[in-house]
Amino acid sequence: MSTPALFTPFRLKDVSLRNRIAVPPMCQYSATDGLTNDWHLAHYTGLARGGAGLVIVEATAVSPEGRITPGCTGLWNDEQAQGMARIAAAIKAGGAVPGIQIAHAGRKASANRPWEGDDHIPDGDPRGWTPIAPSAKPFGANLPKVPQAMTLEDIARVQADFVAAARRARDAGFQWLELHFAHGYLAQSFFSIHGNTRTDAYGNDAIGRGRFLLETLAAVREVWPDNLPLTARFGVIEYDGNDAQTLAESIELVRAMREGGLDMLNVTVGFSTPDAQIPWGPAFLAPVAERVRREAGLPVAAAWGIDDPVIANRAVEQGQMDLVMVGRAMLSNPHWPYQTALKLGLERPSWVLPAPYAHWLERYRVQSA
Ligand SMILES: Cc1cc2nc3c(=O)[nH]c(=O)nc-3n(C[C@H](O)[C@H](O)[C@H](O)COP(=O)(O)O)c2cc1C
Repeated sequence: MSTPALFTPFRLKDVSLRNRIAVPPMCQYSATDGLTNDWHLAHYTGLARGGAGLVIVEATAVSPEGRITPGCTGLWNDEQAQGMARIAAAIKAGGAVPGIQIAHAGRKASANRPWEGDDHIPDGDPRGWTPIAPSAKPFGANLPKVPQAMTLEDIARVQADFVAAARRARDAGFQWLELHFAHGYLAQSFFSIHGNTRTDAYGNDAIGRGRFLLETLAAVREVWPDNLPLTARFGVIEYDGNDAQTLAESIELVRAMREGGLDMLNVTVGFSTPDAQIPWGPAFLAPVAERVRREAGLPVAAAWGIDDPVIANRAVEQGQMDLVMVGRAMLSNPHWPYQTALKLGLERPSWVLPAPYAHWLERYRVQSA
């Protein structure tokens, strides 16, 4: 039997993944002053050991005000980078490629942890701060804080923060960088009509709204090694009733990003407005990912509800995406890749796991068959 598509290797630039299963960034909200700790080390070690080809470390803020919550990780100083170097090494030791997402939360910053309310920290509470954003326009719903509109100096400073964080990620041993241009955070809100009402060069039309993203990409490209993948996560659709136009503008921007040195896109939803009508369901984003892949002409990955082995395998087999992002199913069971290999009939499924587990599980499987 031929190897299921999900378990074929994937090469991008000088990086080879052992299979098409990737763990998307998932915030742990467990850092102090942006510093990782034993929780992060154990968590990422477990994910990598479970057999995924790529593990992307959670949204890591490029500056203190770019954190979503006070518990978010950061890469704005060297002490944080030292902690991240241990995590990158642990992911590598588990056989996966270590990736990291660098981020600025924009107007969604200064929030409580999801399990502590998921809302903005009230004004006047010393744990919080004033978020910055393209325009002084709040997200709404549970995130009502009015952000401070960014000056041109603010824009240049945040872009320099992205560059400094990318440099630290490189020096910490990460081999895959994902720019967080998604989920209603700073970069996505520059692109979105829901967040950007500027009338200068960073607003107005789709070209202006895309400028922050393209410039940030170009600046990071200068310091991120040419032989390593530089990727972005970007919400190409909002499900806000304006999808045809948003998708067309997004794909145009992704083409420009590709020409600016982007190697792959993690296709996702914009989450720029609380009024979106998202069609939740298994792999609901796969057809959108396929369209971006075809029309923008670059490799893509996508997440959201892909936890069924057959659906995951089909997404790769049918060319909807090059990598399948599996998030919550990996939290539920970090050995999801092994269980999936068993279900798809991979010839030696236990060898998805490292030898100290694989050897015993292979014998166990033979004996119990
Ligand atoms: C605990 C948790 C934290 C998340 N943090 C991030 C993040 O840091 N960056 C990001 O782009 N998406 C984040 N997401 C979204 C996931 O990357 C992923 O897109 C989402 O969980 C859907 O995939 P799934 O259905 O396989 O879980 C997070 C999701 C969860 C459950």
